[in-house]
Amino acid sequence: MTPDLFDAGTERLATHQARAVSEVTSGDRSAGFSRVHEAGSLDLTHGRILYLEDVHVSFDGFKAINGLSLDIAPGELRCIIGPNGAGKTTMMDIITGKTKPDSGQVFFGSTIDLLRHNEPEIAQLGIGRKFQKPTVFEHLSVFENLELALKTHKGVAASLFFQLNGAQRDRVREVLYTIHLEGSVKDQAGNLSHGQKQWLEIGMLLMQDPKLLLLDEPVAGMTDFETERTAELFLSLKGKHSLMVVEHDMSFINTISDIVTVLCDGSVLAQGTLAQVQADERVIEVYLGR
Ligand SMILES: Nc1ncnc2c1ncn2[C@@H]1O[C@H](COP(=O)(O)OP(=O)(O)O)[C@@H](O)[C@H]1O
Ligand SMILES: [Mg+2]
Repeated sequence: MTPDLFDAGTERLATHQARAVSEVTSGDRSAGFSRVHEAGSLDLTHGRILYLEDVHVSFDGFKAINGLSLDIAPGELRCIIGPNGAGKTTMMDIITGKTKPDSGQVFFGSTIDLLRHNEPEIAQLGIGRKFQKPTVFEHLSVFENLELALKTHKGVAASLFFQLNGAQRDRVREVLYTIHLEGSVKDQAGNLSHGQKQWLEIGMLLMQDPKLLLLDEPVAGMTDFETERTAELFLSLKGKHSLMVVEHDMSFINTISDIVTVLCDGSVLAQGTLAQVQADERVIEVYLGR
C-alpha cells in the first residue's frame, strides 16, 4: 500500500471515529447512545450494551461460572465485588473471548453474539480490557505509548509509514488530559509511578475509543492520592463509555458506584446500591464480614 492510500485510510478512520454520537439519526429521530448505523454495528435499542444469560463454565469439573446472568446499560459504570475465586476475572475472560463458556448467552448490544467472535475480533468490536498489572512499553515515552495504541490494529508495513493526522493528535492530547499525564508527555513510561502507569494503560485503551471497558482491580497497589484521581477519571469516563470495574477497595467503590453487583461461586449473589448490598446478610457472610 502506498503512503498516499494509507493516509486516505487513516483519514477515513479518523472521520469515522470522530462522528459524534449526537449526529446519528434513525427515521428522523435521533438515535440512542453511541448508535452507529453500519452493518454489524452496535444495536442499543434494548438499552443494554452487555448481556449475559445463564452462563456456565467448568474447569475440570469445577464450576467457576455457574448460571451467571447480568446486563449493563450504555454509559453505565458498573462495579463488581465478591470474594476471591468468585469468578470475576473469569467473567471478563468470557466477555473478551479468552474463555469459551460451556453454555449460556453473551451479547454485545442486542445483536452481536460475542460467543461467535475471537479475542482480536472482540477488541475490534469495541471492548477494551485492562488487566491487573500495567503493561505499558517501559522504554517508550508516554506520547509514544499512546501513539502506538493507534497502530496496534495495523500491519507492520502500515505501522512503518504511520504518522498521526490532526484529528489523531487532538485525540492524544485529549487523552493525556483525561489520564492526568499532560505534564509527562516526554517522560519514559518506565519512570512513571505505578499509578501513572495504570493511567497510561487506560489511556492506551481510550485511544481506540472502546464502547465498553473492563477493568480488573485497577486501584490495587495505588496510593490514596492515586486512587482518588482514578475515581475522578472513571467518573469522567462514565456516560461516554460503559465500564465494568472489579475492585476490593470499598471506599473507591463508594465514590464511583451506582449499581454494585456481588458475585459469589460463579453467579450473582446480590445487586443494588453499595449501601443495599452492604446491608445484605448473605453478602456480609460470604464477603464483607470476614
Ligand atoms: N484457567 C483456569 N483453569 C482452572 N481453574 C481456573 C481457571 N481460571 C480460573 N479458575 C478457577 O476459577 C475460580 C474463579 O477464578 P477467578 O475468576 O480468577 O476469580 P476472582 O477473579 O473472582 O478472584 C477460581 O477457583 C480459580 O481457581
Ligand atoms: Mg480476579
